[in-house]
Amino acid sequence: MRMIVSRLLQSQSQLPTLSALVSSRNARLFSTDSNPVDEHFKVEEAETVNVPPPPSEKLLVLGGNGFVGSHICKEALEHGVTVASLSRSGRTNVHGSWADSVEWHQGNLLVPESLKDVLNGVTSVISCVGGFGSNSHMYKINGTANISAIRAAAEQGVKRFVYISATDFGLVNYLLQGYYGGKRAAEAELLAKFPYGGVILRPGFIHGTRQVGSMKVPLGVVGSPLEMILQHARPLNRIPLIGSLFTPPVNVTSVAKVAVRAATDIVFPPGIVDVYGILRYSQQK
Ligand SMILES: NC(=O)c1ccc[n+]([C@@H]2O[C@H](COP(=O)([O-])OP(=O)(O)OC[C@H]3O[C@@H](n4cnc5c(N)ncnc54)[C@H](OP(=O)(O)O)[C@@H]3O)[C@@H](O)[C@H]2O)c1
Repeated sequence: MRMIVSRLLQSQSQLPTLSALVSSRNARLFSTDSNPVDEHFKVEEAETVNVPPPPSEKLLVLGGNGFVGSHICKEALEHGVTVASLSRSGRTNVHGSWADSVEWHQGNLLVPESLKDVLNGVTSVISCVGGFGSNSHMYKINGTANISAIRAAAEQGVKRFVYISATDFGLVNYLLQGYYGGKRAAEAELLAKFPYGGVILRPGFIHGTRQVGSMKVPLGVVGSPLEMILQHARPLNRIPLIGSLFTPPVNVTSVAKVAVRAATDIVFPPGIVDVYGILRYSQQK
C-alpha cells in the first residue's frame, strides 16, 4: 500500500502544474475540491445572466455524436444556437428531429487538417472527445487530440472553448494514468490558450440514457439515487485516499446545460468547474 501511495504521489507530481498556469493567466476556479493548491484560486460563485445568444453564434461540438455530445447538441439547439459536430464517424445514428438541425462533419482530431475548414465561422467549441484503452491510447485521445483542437481553435480566433474533463478519483488516477495525464495536459493547454474564455468541466460518473448500438441503457437507474444521496454527503469526499469515491454522479442533461452556458455566456467565469459547481450551475434558472 505504501508503495502504491508513494508512486501515486510521484505520478501526480509529474503532471503539468495547472496551478501555476491558473495563477498566471487570470483563470478562475469554480471548484470545491479540497486540494490545498486549488483552494488558493477559489472564487466566489458568479451569477451569470441567461440571455439568448446572438444569432451569429455558431457552436462546434467535438464528439457531438457521443453520449454527452448529443445532449450538448440538443441543449444548444434549444437555445437557438447554430450547431456543428465533428467526429470520426460523422452523423449520429440516433433518430430525432434535432439531428437534422446539426451540421455533421467527419474528421479525426489526431489528423491536424481535419479541423481546417470546419472551424470557419465558429465562435465557440465544446470538446467531448475522450476515451479509454491502453495508457498511450488514453493519453492520445484525451490529451493530444484535444490539445491539437485547442491550438487550432485559438489560431482561428474562436472566443470560447469548453473541455469536458473528469474529476480526480484518487487511486483510480494511478490505474488510469494515461486517461488523467491526458486530461490534465489538455486542461493546461486550454488555460494557456484561452485565459479568458476557457472553461473546464470536471464531472465524475455521468448518468442518463446512453445509446449503445440499437439499445438504450438507462444509467440513471443507478446514477440518480446516488446523485441524490451523495450531493448531500460532501464531508465523505474529504476522506483521504477513498474520499473521491463518494463524488456524486451528475445527470448528462446537467453537464450539457452547464457546458452550453459556459460556451455561450460571455460572463461565465473561465477556469475549472467541479462536480458540485456543475450541480449548482445546472440548478440555476
Ligand atoms: N460518461 C461519463 O461517465 C464521463 C465521466 C467523466 C468524464 N467524461 C468525459 O466526457 C467526455 C464525453 O464522454 P462520453 O461518455 O460522451 O464519451 P463517448 O460517448 O465515447 O463520446 C466520445 C466522442 O468522441 C468522438 N471521438 C473519439 N475520438 C475522436 C477523434 N480522434 N477525433 C474526433 N472525434 C473523436 C467519438 O466519436 P467517433 O467515435 O465517431 O469519433 C464520440 O463522439 C469524454 O472526454 C469523457 O472522458 C465522461
